[in-house]
Amino acid sequence: MHITPAISVLLFGILPEVSSATDTTNNCCSALEKGGLANRVVYPNSGAYEKSVGSYWAENVQLDPICIVQPRSARDVSLAVSTLTSIENGACKFAVRSGGHTTWAGANDISNGVTIDLQMMNSTTYNKNNGTASILPGARWQSVYKALSPYDVTVPGGRGGPVGVGGFLIGGGNTFHTARVGFGCDNVENFEVVLASGDIINANKGSHADLYKALKGGSINYGVVTKYEMKTIPGDKLWGGLVVYANSTTSQQLSAAHHFINNIHKDHYASWIGMWEYSAQTDTNVIANALEYTKPVAYPKALQNFTSIPNTTDTMRFANMYNLTQELVQASGYRDVFTTGTFGNDLKVLEQTVKIHNSVIEKAKAAAKSKDWTVDTIIQPWPTLFAEHSQKRGGNVLGLERFDENLFRESYSSFLSPLCSSSDTKTEVLFDYSWKNAADDDLFNELARSALKELTAYSKSIGADNEYIYLNYADGSQNPLAGYGPKNVEYIRRIAKKYDSEGVFQTQVPGGFKISEVCE
Ligand SMILES: Cc1cc2nc3c(=O)[nH]c(=O)nc-3n(C[C@H](O)[C@H](O)[C@H](O)COP(=O)(O)OP(=O)(O)OC[C@H]3O[C@@H](n4cnc5c(N)ncnc54)[C@H](O)[C@@H]3O)c2cc1C
Ligand SMILES: *[C@@H]1O[C@H](CO)[C@@H](O)[C@H](O)[C@H]1NC(C)=O
Ligand SMILES: *[C@@H]1O[C@H](CO)[C@@H](O)[C@H](O)[C@H]1NC(C)=O
Ligand SMILES: *[C@@H]1O[C@H](CO)[C@@H](O)[C@H](O)[C@H]1NC(C)=O
Ligand SMILES: *[C@@H]1O[C@H](CO)[C@@H](O)[C@H](O)[C@H]1NC(C)=O
Ligand SMILES: *[C@@H]1O[C@H](CO)[C@@H](O)[C@H](O)[C@H]1NC(C)=O
Ligand SMILES: *[C@@H]1O[C@H](CO)[C@@H](O)[C@H](O)[C@H]1NC(C)=O
Repeated sequence: MHITPAISVLLFGILPEVSSATDTTNNCCSALEKGGLANRVVYPNSGAYEKSVGSYWAENVQLDPICIVQPRSARDVSLAVSTLTSIENGACKFAVRSGGHTTWAGANDISNGVTIDLQMMNSTTYNKNNGTASILPGARWQSVYKALSPYDVTVPGGRGGPVGVGGFLIGGGNTFHTARVGFGCDNVENFEVVLASGDIINANKGSHADLYKALKGGSINYGVVTKYEMKTIPGDKLWGGLVVYANSTTSQQLSAAHHFINNIHKDHYASWIGMWEYSAQTDTNVIANALEYTKPVAYPKALQNFTSIPNTTDTMRFANMYNLTQELVQASGYRDVFTTGTFGNDLKVLEQTVKIHNSVIEKAKAAAKSKDWTVDTIIQPWPTLFAEHSQKRGGNVLGLERFDENLFRESYSSFLSPLCSSSDTKTEVLFDYSWKNAADDDLFNELARSALKELTAYSKSIGADNEYIYLNYADGSQNPLAGYGPKNVEYIRRIAKKYDSEGVFQTQVPGGFKISEVCE
């Protein structure tokens, strides 16, 4: 006779052999269904579930949540949060995701828990009356630019079209327009937030102003943002594109970069991203500059030191944000790691960065098990000017303004190395590696972490190191919130406690960078 577990309990009083952990998490999903979200919950092996899991940019972050809840409104998010927090002892662990572009596993997804997938909330509305745009967290930047272009306005957002809005705007947000208007977060006028209590509140200059500031860089420490209202800027055409150069132009690129970074404050329209890109499939290393000028002027003087270097191809053109961000797209469907650091803008640091890039290529060639991988090293300006714009717009918690004031640090650096006297203007380095074969996970993770370690040690040795770490590029092994400085750490801790006294977003939502993981 076949005895089902339920019957065996009745007949013999034997508990079915199901782990209690799985039971609890299954309860989380049925509670969501009973709580009014029945048609929002999707389970493994359904099309909607597979589509959601498959839509993370990096393959290595695609986990296997017990179920995924896909809210369509702030009210749905509120229901989901209050349902999941109502179950005994925070047993229903959950994750929050928007565009899913973070590269380290567990930041935006969860195993043995529920993922709140905000991708159904993806609309952008232009508010003609006051020149703001209401953007839902699940939108991708390309859809935002597309929706705003008929009104001849845009917003400072992601430079790759598919990048998500939700995580980007609470981690800072570097844009083509940062030298003009500060980071993406500095241009948010209102955050609509679902708190751990389930309450839906608005945080802006006039209401919950402390949370408003704390969200500008404080990421997933307070609640789930269900709407961003951003100030728009004129939707002028840009002069922009990608210029590709031979590897042999490295030293010209680096001196152009060094000079450009030190002079950004003289022309706020110019933007440069420098990329050293090696592809194992073609066994070539090229340099690609993303040059952007945020008004329709070709070959501006500020970019002359780059445009005078002989190139192999160039796509420079007059185009809008939608068009330009279709070009800066890095392939999804790979396994990826990012590590990042910030350094004084010292030519020696730039040179060391490329030296490390070249040596990583050799190490990877010697050890990689497959042929489909890339090693990219990306250099971006991080000038004092960015922080000045942030301050003018009410401030954020990134802590960048303090490097301007830190006289001890500055004089100490100049004592060690007189050439670093402009070290308040910084350079941001991103080691960005992609590969196909999971057997290479340890190799590339280790290479990215040791590349950063080596560059940091070198920078320290010449007094050009800096403790700031850009959260949106940081690896799970890094601690970007600690790099915001003690005053901001203390502030984030206080605001997190005020709006989430039980610490739901510290423990029940384990993913992302947590203020509770920063040492007191
Ligand atoms: C190809 C590529 C291009 C990029 N280009 C840029 C660029 O031009 N400029 C730049 O600054 N950065 C860039 N980034 C980094 C990017 O800013 C981060 O990956 C950012 O997290 C993307 O947002 P997301 O919505 O996709 O994040 P997700 O991975 O979905 O989430 C990131 C974190 O935020 C939390 N979170 C997400 N949504 C919410 C919400 N609504 N409320 C509360 N917490 C939330 C998540 O729990 C997670 O911890 C790029 C990354 C990639 C992979
Ligand atoms: C929003 O998401 C839905 C469902 O995935 C999709 O069909 C739609 O195209 C998206 N809209 C935008 C503006 O991206
Ligand atoms: C701008 O207008 C929209 C739509 O009317 C409104 O919801 C929003 O609160 C306004 N924002 C500001 C900052 O006034
Ligand atoms: C690129 O140039 C560097 C010198 O800057 C050299 O060491 C390296 O081998 C070159 N890479 C390729 C693939 O040609
Ligand atoms: C180019 O760089 C040099 C220093 O290498 C500098 O003197 C010059 O002014 C720069 N030109 C422009 C147009 O910025
Ligand atoms: C790229 O090289 C071509 C050919 O020399 C030149 O005409 C063009 O101006 C260069 N483009 C940029 C953006 O430097
Ligand atoms: C961008 O604009 C160029 C013309 O300037 C056009 O050829 C290209 O197709 C456009 N790309 C997109 C994605 O719209």
